[in-house]
Amino acid sequence: MRIGVLSDIHGNLPALEACRDELTSLGVDITVCLGDLVQYGPYPAEVMDFVIEHDMQCIQGDCDRAVSRGGGDPGDEFENVYWKELAAESMKWTVERLDKEKMRFLRKLPADRRYLVGRREILCVHGLPGNVRGGAREEYSNEVYEFMLRRNGCDVLLLGHTHRLFLRSLDSGMIVNPGSVGGGTLPRESTVSVLEADEENGVVSVAWHRVPYDFEAYAEKYRKAGLPEIFLRCMELGRDPRGPWLGGDIARRQSWPNIFRS
Ligand SMILES: [Fe+2]
Repeated sequence: MRIGVLSDIHGNLPALEACRDELTSLGVDITVCLGDLVQYGPYPAEVMDFVIEHDMQCIQGDCDRAVSRGGGDPGDEFENVYWKELAAESMKWTVERLDKEKMRFLRKLPADRRYLVGRREILCVHGLPGNVRGGAREEYSNEVYEFMLRRNGCDVLLLGHTHRLFLRSLDSGMIVNPGSVGGGTLPRESTVSVLEADEENGVVSVAWHRVPYDFEAYAEKYRKAGLPEIFLRCMELGRDPRGPWLGGDIARRQSWPNIFRS
């Protein structure tokens, strides 16, 4: 069984379309979305229509939850407090563009999903199990992740939220973050993962794929919507809107070989 894994779309329809094309060409059986369908991008309603139409199996992210409540603080931490105000502006814009039915859809999204493939239990969450605002960090020890798998009765834990590619391979299983579709993981590109689970022998493997998308189309729509310009620059330069604008953190996030260090 081949599972397409994507996360953190953040209202970016051109990127989502490109990711879906990529996953289709890779022959996935199902696609799971680890939350944050909306916020920041100018296509919140269109993204929701797209995931429903293409039967993507979604869970609720912290931004989805905040939007479904009509706004407020999703709980993200910003390096730049001024940007937090701009993010609130962006959320207000998003809330105003969703009808009652779409708000209900966001509100009803499950906090997690489970799949049993052969003998392998796969758990999908947004941040960390039981904590939508949490995030898998490289500095956490193997013991922490071993405990997390054991505590939640799963072999594979798929999570998003940080917008960073992440892999921790353990004796008892693995933790995977596919990066993001529209969270500024890479400049003008999305990242997705494909999880391959052999139902016979229980072997699970994972691969990441970089997916360029039509950034100009996104930028045009974004500017017409009048959303804060700085978040468009984040998408152009491959920077998480919450993260530091300058500094080594960005280099680490974009350094592919580092994700294989544990
Ligand atoms: Fe996100």
